[in-house]
Order: sequence, then structure tokens, then C-alpha cells
Amino acid sequence: MKIIFRIWRQNSGSEKGGFKEYEVNDLTEDMSFLEALDHLNEILVLKNEKVIAYEYDCREGICGQCGVFINGRAHGPHENMTTCQLHMRSFYDGETITIEPWRADSFPIIKDLVVDRSAFDRIIEHGAYISAKTGTAPEANSILIGKEISDRAMDAAACIGCGACVATCKNSSAALFTSAKINHLNSLPQGKLEQHHRVLDMTAQMEEEGFGHCSFTGACEVECPEGISIVNIAEMNARYMKAKIFG
Ligand code: FES
Repeated sequence: MKIIFRIWRQNSGSEKGGFKEYEVNDLTEDMSFLEALDHLNEILVLKNEKVIAYEYDCREGICGQCGVFINGRAHGPHENMTTCQLHMRSFYDGETITIEPWRADSFPIIKDLVVDRSAFDRIIEHGAYISAKTGTAPEANSILIGKEISDRAMDAAACIGCGACVATCKNSSAALFTSAKINHLNSLPQGKLEQHHRVLDMTAQMEEEGFGHCSFTGACEVECPEGISIVNIAEMNARYMKAKIFG
């Protein structure tokens, strides 16, 4: 199949970027989206041109590194799917596909489609851990946790930290990501010891990193490849108020 890739090229964060078009004629619909980009890079190498920088690690929808805007949508046209899980059969022969990096001040561009998401790491450092000694892997039923609570914690833990929520939000808010990390641990007995510090410190770091405020448009939930619910944000806000009073 033939595809015209319209890709954002930018040498570094301090230089101006712009779109460049590349026509590729020998793709197949069974190729993954990243394999199609790999193939384009092979062509560029043979032409002695600069390859396109993009991120990935697992290529299995787990690590959260591969996020880009594809035709104006985070991770492309499908819901609950990361860029690495997308296949070329989702596009038509002859289509022009526009690929851009995440756009947010707190995610500065490093090169082409690669952005610096270390702001997320710093939010994690401010509370996404527990100090309770758990020792070796405990017997699964040694601490009984109700199904409703364990489901809520597991749903929040599904966040892969890809940044689609921030990039999609008109305010560049990191509320969905931060709330998922807080609710994952604050829901569980092992996370209760630091529960108030966790919500206060992680939200303070979120502010420090310059992310915008949440105005509950719900766009983050729609574009999240893991389907993290914005109910997490409401829960984080309630936890924040409680921590302010009792923390
Ligand atoms: S490469 Fe790991 S989630 Fe896409």
C-alpha cells in the first residue's frame, strides 16, 4: 500500500520544526504502525538522510513510550490502543498520515517525535511508593481486600504513563495521570501510611512542573489507551481535601 507520511521534524527543542512529507509505496496492511516507520527510516538511511526520531520500548502496549499524535488524535484512530498496537490496516491506500509529537509545555520536544516526559517521573518520585515493609511476595490472601477496592486499585494501576492525557487536554493537565497513581496506592491498606503526604506532595509536584488545571472536559479519558476513568480525578480531589484537613 502507498502512504504519504507527513511528519514533524525538529532537530532540537531550541530549533524551529516543521512538517516534511515522505511517500512510501511498499507497505503492507499487516505491518504495525511502528514497523512502517522503521521501514521509512531504512529508506532514509539508504538515501543518506537523517532518520526520524521516535520512541518505543515494549511494542506491546505496556511501557507507554510510543505516544504520538496521528491525524490529530493521541495514539491514532482507535480507542484503548497505543501507537505500537496500531496496524496499517487502519488506514486506506494512498492516505496521508500526519504524525506529531505530544504538544505540552511540560513535555518539551527533544527531537522530531520524541518529547521529554521526565516531569511524570518527578511526580512519581513524590509519592508513588510505599514504606510499609512487604518482605518477599506475601501469600495472596494474607491481607484480605474487598473486591470493589482491589478493582479500583487495579484499574488505576493500569495507567502506563504515556502522556496522552496531557497532550490531549486543552489545559495540558496531568490530573488523570497523577490521580491514577495516587488512587492506586491510597486505595490499598499498604498505601495508607503515606496517604495524606502522597496526595499533597504529588499534586504539589504536578503544579511545580507547570501542568495546567483540570476543567473536566473528559478528553483525557477518551484518548487514554488504558481507559483510565476521570472518576479518579474526582477521587483525588476528595482525597486532597481530606489530606488538607487531617494530614
Ligand atoms: S512501545 Fe511500549 S506501549 Fe508502545
